[in-house]
Amino acid sequence: MKVKEILEKAYHESNLTKDEIKLLLMAEGEDKDLLFKTADRVRKEHVGDEVFLRGLIEFSSYCKNDCFYCGLRRSNQNAQRYRMQEDEIVEVAKRAYQMGYRTVVLQSGEDMYYTKDRLCSIIKKMKRVVDVAITLSIGERSYDEYKVFKDAGADRFLMRFETSNEKLYRKYHPGMSFENRIECLKWLKKLGYELGTGFLIGLPGQTLDDLAQDIILVKELDADMIGIGPFIPHPQTPLKDAKEGSVDLTLKSIAILRLLNPDANIPATTALGTLDPLGRQKGLMCGANIVMPNVNRLEYKLKYELYPGKICINEDATKCRGCIESIIVSVGRKVGQGKGQSRHYKRAS
Ligand code: 5AD
Ligand code: FES
Repeated sequence: MKVKEILEKAYHESNLTKDEIKLLLMAEGEDKDLLFKTADRVRKEHVGDEVFLRGLIEFSSYCKNDCFYCGLRRSNQNAQRYRMQEDEIVEVAKRAYQMGYRTVVLQSGEDMYYTKDRLCSIIKKMKRVVDVAITLSIGERSYDEYKVFKDAGADRFLMRFETSNEKLYRKYHPGMSFENRIECLKWLKKLGYELGTGFLIGLPGQTLDDLAQDIILVKELDADMIGIGPFIPHPQTPLKDAKEGSVDLTLKSIAILRLLNPDANIPATTALGTLDPLGRQKGLMCGANIVMPNVNRLEYKLKYELYPGKICINEDATKCRGCIESIIVSVGRKVGQGKGQSRHYKRAS
């Protein structure tokens, strides 16, 4: 089958086989241009020209896990650790609201200092004082905890499965289980969270076949939001000498994900912007409709080092807000108003 025919099928059916996905991942030249153009059209038809902003608050850099690629891994003795307290977190959310954000993402390493009660209290307080949608990105917890957080007011949850190749998953996530992660994602969906998941592009050993499977798994999980980004080697991790993920493959994956999940929210991620100065613009032009600027204070931004070279690390949140807006306008789009709930989620509920 030719790329053109595959794209036509994807456009009409929002479905592809693994082999078809692989062919799209290999598209070059005119074929690649057509892939991006088709994805951009699907984006426009299903989610429109608005680009929604999510204010990212990275509230703790402690993590009990030891993921091979991540700078926050517990074995990284050089990582600078911090924990923000409730009042401070809520204060940042307030400031984000004043800058126009209507969604905040509370992200951290897997840090059990934030017990069920502490997190509930943060969520409730935030909901009382700021009118924002709350997205949690705190990793694996029990069903009961997820339920309590939802009842306390959390709206959405982000957790990438990172890779669908179980062998690779085991290798790069010591002490963790792929099965449990998928179970968590299913619980979150069942509990009524707007669900975000995704994967890393370019983990050493990952094949095109794996990537195609990752794309299929996202669809199977019925994700409302899909975050993917290139792997970037961190010097204080076991993968320090590995090659970084490909920007080109990331863009193609974004495009294919848009074709298969027409009404999902898909961010142009910071990692993409880190490897390519125009990465976020390119992402927005081949299917993405979300940007997630960090709204934390400089001091914390510097310490939350998943990977090196992160963009905007020296900018304060106000400057980022303006910069992001000009990026959005430069690609012919506009900043979304309101909370920007996933249309996929809306349609299902
Ligand atoms: N390069 C790129 N992305 C990374 N993440 C963690 N470490 C890295 C890295 N070295 C991503 C993971 C995680 C998200 C919060 O950050 O996919 O889910
Ligand atoms: Fe942060 Fe450009 S988005 S400075």
